[in-house]
Amino acid sequence: MPQLKTKYLGLTLKNPLVASASALSKKISNIKEMEDAGISCVVMYSLFEEQIDHESLELHHYLSRGTESFAEALTYFPDFDTYNSGLDRYLGLIAEAKKSVEIPIIGSLNGVSNSGWIEYAKKIQEAGADALELNIYFLPTDKEINSESLEKNYIDLIAAVINSVEIPVSVKLSPYFTSIPGTIQAMENAGAKGFVLFNRFYQPDLDIEKLTVEPTLELSTSRDMLLPLRWTAILYGRIEADIALSSGVHTGTDMVKAIMAGATVATTASELVANGILSAKKMLQGFANWMDTHDYESVESLRGILSQKSVAFPAAFERANYMKALTSFDDTL
Ligand SMILES: Cc1cc2nc3c(=O)[nH]c(=O)nc-3n(C[C@H](O)[C@H](O)[C@H](O)COP(=O)(O)O)c2cc1C
Repeated sequence: MPQLKTKYLGLTLKNPLVASASALSKKISNIKEMEDAGISCVVMYSLFEEQIDHESLELHHYLSRGTESFAEALTYFPDFDTYNSGLDRYLGLIAEAKKSVEIPIIGSLNGVSNSGWIEYAKKIQEAGADALELNIYFLPTDKEINSESLEKNYIDLIAAVINSVEIPVSVKLSPYFTSIPGTIQAMENAGAKGFVLFNRFYQPDLDIEKLTVEPTLELSTSRDMLLPLRWTAILYGRIEADIALSSGVHTGTDMVKAIMAGATVATTASELVANGILSAKKMLQGFANWMDTHDYESVESLRGILSQKSVAFPAAFERANYMKALTSFDDTL
């Protein structure tokens, strides 16, 4: 059988399949089931800073810049008391997970203010998390905020968190940056050890009868993998940090693609939510069988073989391929 062991954020994992943040990690029984199904590491659901301190002044500062009033903005948050009873529960779950399973547990923090990020990052470390994932999601709606100042703000926050904890820190990003490589390089310079590409964004829909704006959450399909796959392939070998591919990983084949593009690990949430945690077993079997039948002895030997650096036609990942895709489609019409 091929050697599936891999290293992510300095942690030794028995294989490259990681459970990405989702509500599944709210129950210890699910985390145990993930370990039993073969998953090598669990990223906990995110602790949202808003959850802990609704009235944070800094949060107020951010939110009120894009909305009419803070009070109104808060009505769009779920009722956090029922969604999650907050910090203590979160930290308790991490501590319990650490006692219950052998696989590494990564805390996830979705913050908005400098003080919140640092304080909660430290607490997550104290609870026993092996690493910390920072989910940076701030939607600028204010015309006064330009990309440079926003990115500088992100990088300052990331640096502040990294300097306040000892565990490795990764950053979960959106694909909406003007220059993904430039932003990632700056974050790596600030000390980030890994990048999770990418977070999925759930766009609100309009209910035209009720005249309301409705939140939507649609699970991914394997097609959603193409965007992170491309960026993983482009970034592999250009940064030192690990890449965790997130979005659209549903099968062993998807895992093979992620690693071939250059991902350190493939992460999955929708597959486990839609088809049960046990589907991880099938994914891992598919991955190992493929490696076996194609004579790859280790994940290392597979990693990056279809990254931009390694392919015969590197422009396939760039704009040149856009034209090629259009013209070859046109030819079929
Ligand atoms: C039900 C559900 C809950 C999620 N909760 C979180 C979360 O708390 N924090 C986070 O960073 N990502 C969260 N995500 C996003 C996933 O971690 C993942 O990045 C995204 O769903 C793309 O991966 P997938 O295609 O395998 O689902 C959630 C996803 C789902 C489906």
